[in-house]
Amino acid sequence: MKTAVVLLAAGQGKRMRSSLPKVLHRICGTTMLQSVISSARKLKPDKIIVVAGRHKERIRDAVGDEGVYYALQKDPRGTGHALSCARPALNNFDGDILVLNADTPLIGPATLKRLVALHRRQKNLVSVLSFTASDPAAYGRIVRGRSGQVCAIIEDREAGPEEKKIREVNSGVYVLGRRALSLLTGISEHRSTGEYYLTDIVAAASKRGEKVAAYPIGREDEFMGVNTREELGKASEMMRKALVKKWTERGVTFLDPDSAFIHPDVSIGSDTVIYPNVFLEEKTVIGKNSIVYPNVRIRNGRIGNSVSILDSTLIEDSVIKEGASVGPFSHIRPGSIVGRGAKIGNFVELKKALLGSKTKASHLSYLGDALIGRDVNIGAGTITCNYDGANKNVTTIGDGVFVGSDSQLVAPVKIGNGAYIGAGSTITADVPSDALAVARVRQKNIRDWAKRMKKRKARR
Ligand code: UD1
Ligand code: CA
Repeated sequence: MKTAVVLLAAGQGKRMRSSLPKVLHRICGTTMLQSVISSARKLKPDKIIVVAGRHKERIRDAVGDEGVYYALQKDPRGTGHALSCARPALNNFDGDILVLNADTPLIGPATLKRLVALHRRQKNLVSVLSFTASDPAAYGRIVRGRSGQVCAIIEDREAGPEEKKIREVNSGVYVLGRRALSLLTGISEHRSTGEYYLTDIVAAASKRGEKVAAYPIGREDEFMGVNTREELGKASEMMRKALVKKWTERGVTFLDPDSAFIHPDVSIGSDTVIYPNVFLEEKTVIGKNSIVYPNVRIRNGRIGNSVSILDSTLIEDSVIKEGASVGPFSHIRPGSIVGRGAKIGNFVELKKALLGSKTKASHLSYLGDALIGRDVNIGAGTITCNYDGANKNVTTIGDGVFVGSDSQLVAPVKIGNGAYIGAGSTITADVPSDALAVARVRQKNIRDWAKRMKKRKARR
């Protein structure tokens, strides 16, 4: 049996009070929509359709086209209307349709799989995933008849006093047999909101004697809907906690689990220690036995085993190899590689800089567009002058080079293996291997100058 997934993502999200479409708000780094799509993908569906509204292009830019078809709901007139906008895309589709609200970002694939399996086993036309809500007012109530059969889903604003007491609610996840789509034409507009509710197909199907069921297999921590910033914060916190727990169980120590912020695609090796207030973002990988000190942010970093990232350091799209040490207060910009056992110290900025093993830049340097060999010593205050106002140029430094403090290397320039650069040099021409280059004004000492000046002052 084939499966199509339809994600409803065209709502205005008024309650967010944002210019950003609601489903593009992020939790733990991923947009709500992407988070739902990635769970849906785990079911290996034959088709994924996102119903988007006037922000369709923005949503497409954020999510991409790969394996996703976009349907347009130009004027959002409710979830029922949204699903009918996906109908043209389902014209030639024969199978079950898994419908998901895109504002339930904590959804995982396992419960979805269970719902699809139950739907098929029970040969339902409409299956609804339900759960018990701590505050059911934000959800549609599942109304059951005397024998427990599902009769309707009633939204809070339309619920009577008896219905308001019901705590079993609709998660916004449904499996529909293809035939159920025709029920959409029969539902009518709700006067109070001017919307067509997808949930009304439950009553419609039940009246026709079709097989409808709701399965309370969900938990609120997986199916909570996000309509407000407060709920976004709550959902983010739930996801963050779950990620910290996962890595704790895999052997990572968090000194303050409440201030570790980890994106879902991050991976951390065992016996690594994470200090407070650390952000590990996007596809960051950290090896074993490493240590990340406070106030560090790593975005797409590949950090090896036994690495130390010292306090207040930012690393982006870069590789830090085994045994290296970076920080405190370092900025590793995209395209950099710090070699094995290398050391980057305080106030050092790298950009597209490749440093060989055991190379050291311990203090106050800018190394950009630089190819630096192994066992190089970069003195304090060294700057690669990589930009001439028009082009970026490369500085190449061979193995075993010693660059004296406060030197400027004006690129393009090459320093041969084993060369020495005298402190305070401005290097504008290549330096051969094993040479000493000194490029600064020779020192002049004027005898007794200070003494004479002091005397002059005293006479005045
Ligand atoms: C909906 C359900 C409610 C359920 C809850 C679960 C209806 C009428 N109610 O309520 O029973 O308990 O979700 O979280 O379906 N959308 C569109 N086009 C529209 C309107 C909405 O694509 O015209 C999308 C939204 O972007 C959102 C989803 O549908 O992702 C749900 O819409 P929302 O307005 O948040 O519905 P709720 O009031 O939360
Ligand atoms: Ca919602």
